[in-house]
Amino acid sequence: MKLSVISSAAQIGQDVRIHDFANIYGACAIGSGSVIGAFVEIQPGAVIGKGVKVSSHTFICDGVTIDDEAFIGHGVMFTNDKSPRSVFDDGTPVTAATTKVVPTRVCRRAAIGSGSTILCGITIGVGALVGAGSVVTKDVPPHAVVAGNPARVVNTSSFPETRSTMSMPEGLQQPHNQILFDEYNEYGPVQLGPYSSYTWRHDPRHLLFTLARYKFGAKLLQGCESVLEIGCGDAVGSPILLQTVKRLHGVDLEPAIIADDIRRNEYGDRLSFEAVDLTKASPAGMYDAAVSMDVIEHIPAQEEDAFLHNIASCLNPHAICIIGTPNVTSQQYASENSRAGHINLKDHDSLSASLHKYFHNIFVFSMNDEVVHTGYKPMAHYLMAVATGKK
Ligand SMILES: CC(C)(COP(=O)(O)OP(=O)(O)OC[C@H]1O[C@@H](n2cnc3c(N)ncnc32)[C@H](O)[C@@H]1OP(=O)(O)O)[C@@H](O)C(=O)NCCC(=O)NCCS
Repeated sequence: MKLSVISSAAQIGQDVRIHDFANIYGACAIGSGSVIGAFVEIQPGAVIGKGVKVSSHTFICDGVTIDDEAFIGHGVMFTNDKSPRSVFDDGTPVTAATTKVVPTRVCRRAAIGSGSTILCGITIGVGALVGAGSVVTKDVPPHAVVAGNPARVVNTSSFPETRSTMSMPEGLQQPHNQILFDEYNEYGPVQLGPYSSYTWRHDPRHLLFTLARYKFGAKLLQGCESVLEIGCGDAVGSPILLQTVKRLHGVDLEPAIIADDIRRNEYGDRLSFEAVDLTKASPAGMYDAAVSMDVIEHIPAQEEDAFLHNIASCLNPHAICIIGTPNVTSQQYASENSRAGHINLKDHDSLSASLHKYFHNIFVFSMNDEVVHTGYKPMAHYLMAVATGKK
């Protein structure tokens, strides 16, 4: 790694090899087992998956996500701004802060030939192959071979070796399952993030309770245009919310989890992520609803008002706000680890009182495991407050 610049903010996985003279700037992420060639420049915000090979002299800018096992040839240039300018009309300089980054995604096992330029806002499909020296101006379908300027499909069935991730049975006993095998072969297994993987391995039932909370939220938010999820963690509930809402913006104060969320996002523009500490700032944009599961109990009491204020200030007047948290009465049954993090627990009445400062109507439901009910308050394991009528 001699003479390479590697930012301490970069999230670099295990066994990543970085060759000489690379510049790895700021909060980018590089997954385990990847190889970064000499003279490669990777900007903050770029997300590179596991087992990716990036050949020498390539430039990977903010907004680019490269999925696992993709190949990037020599001197590949990514872009993130369709109309770049140095200054605005009045002569003031255009800066990174005033530039809207347009994302680009290279899907799993795709390969990009040397000397290609990839315009922004593009998805290069699973297992696709971009010929050397191409200028890619449009999405590339999965497994297609494209080449030229502008890049056009020259072959649709190439690169078959990338299709097979498992040996496919010759004729299934139950042919109706073929579609399941086909999709599995095309996209590979779904990846859970670090929190949910841990839960699935150590306490799989707990994942059921967590997902049930999202199912309740998804029912209430049916048809919402834009929803904010506060404390999205590894976004395990996002697919459930996306079954009923149009767009979801997940925020979390942990940049490492947001980088991993971006890397695993299978929903394109419908699902976006941002690292934000809600006790300090609101995320960009206005939303029709906010969902926050298992966050408020971790917020220091003296910062709770700032947290709720920052949520309310990015909600439209008609918005619905759903806040889920364990009931203080359930703490005697909680593990030592979760008790240590639960510094701001509430019961029905105190949760309602906190939300009443920002909303006119508060409905607090009880939950035990995956069942939502209106039963005796102290016996609820979990509380789910639904707030409407922003003040
Ligand atoms: C795109 C590519 C995969 C096509 O390979 P192929 O399937 O063997 O195709 P062929 O060589 O038979 O070419 C098919 C047609 O596409 C054209 N073509 C091939 N590669 C091209 C390219 N990079 N740009 C423009 N046209 C290209 C050929 O001229 C030919 O056109 P024709 O039918 O009019 O004669 C290959 O040429 C390529 O560019 N591979 C990437 C190499 C690379 O960058 N490696 C990275 C690190 S070493």
